[in-house]
Amino acid sequence: MKNIGIIGSGTMGSGIAQVAATAGCMVKLYDTKQEALDKSKAALEKILNRLVQKGRIDEAEKNRIQGNISYVDALKDLGDSDLTIEAIVENLEIKQKVFAELETYVSDTAIIASNTSSLSIASIASALQKPERCIGIHFFNPAPLMKLVEVIPAIQTSKEVLQTVTKTISDWKKVVAVAKDTPGFIVNRVARPFYGESLRIYEEGIADFATIDNALKTLGNFRMGPFELMDFIGNDVNYTVTETVFTAFYYDSRYKPSFTQKRLSEAGYLGRKTGKGYYDYDENGRVTSS
Ligand code: NAI
Repeated sequence: MKNIGIIGSGTMGSGIAQVAATAGCMVKLYDTKQEALDKSKAALEKILNRLVQKGRIDEAEKNRIQGNISYVDALKDLGDSDLTIEAIVENLEIKQKVFAELETYVSDTAIIASNTSSLSIASIASALQKPERCIGIHFFNPAPLMKLVEVIPAIQTSKEVLQTVTKTISDWKKVVAVAKDTPGFIVNRVARPFYGESLRIYEEGIADFATIDNALKTLGNFRMGPFELMDFIGNDVNYTVTETVFTAFYYDSRYKPSFTQKRLSEAGYLGRKTGKGYYDYDENGRVTSS
């Protein structure tokens, strides 16, 4: 797995590109928006400069990582990828369309993976002529820092594809957890009631965001409270995942989405990436008020 294609240069695609490039792969990062590609490139420069300043990497390593990534504006440029990981908007129809088009450009043996948080890998795979080449590879945010990666074979996925992907992700120095293709897999399923109950505590007027965050951070030893985490992930992404898991589990009330989060998402108060969510943020991502 030398040539890696990444579709979507947002939060996750950019992080996954950094992971693969650091591991020595040649990465092509594709997005429909030029501004998203420019932003991703600038963000990587900033991250690597910080690592150089901290003495974690030297200039040569920074140049090597950057040199391993090219930024492309056409899906067909990913045609020589051994493995492509898609990290675009969490929408089944859009993902299926992109997968079907990508398959017309890649070789017969190329693997096509999705970083989806909650959609069925079987339905994404069904858009392909060769669904056995499709698999879920679910990184967590921020991808370069989070050790765990869930690998999700669909019922169509071949054993060889599962083996190759498990080895590749382990070679990228990540810990693999193989999970069955069910809504939210492992971590996002456990996380739904964590966010949901925190939102209900807020909506019932029991405590405000900051109090809930502080309580869980202090006692539970979490690095971020649930509201900080939702702002970090993005309220649009987080809300959509909850809605998908809730629907996919036949409207099980344990996963019921929250109107508070829905309204924030509709208003464009997406969290850190827009400077406003449960909290307000300055341009460096620091909280200014709640
Ligand atoms: P994002 O909104 O930061 O980035 C998505 C990027 O995809 C944007 O730059 C957009 O221009 C691009 N895009 C949209 N449609 C496209 C298309 N048809 N072709 C090419 N590029 C396209 O989203 P984020 O947060 O990176 O999420 C991406 C995927 O990863 C989603 O499926 C999400 O559920 C999943 N995920 C998100 C996590 C998070 O914490 N944000 C964690 C793990 C998975």
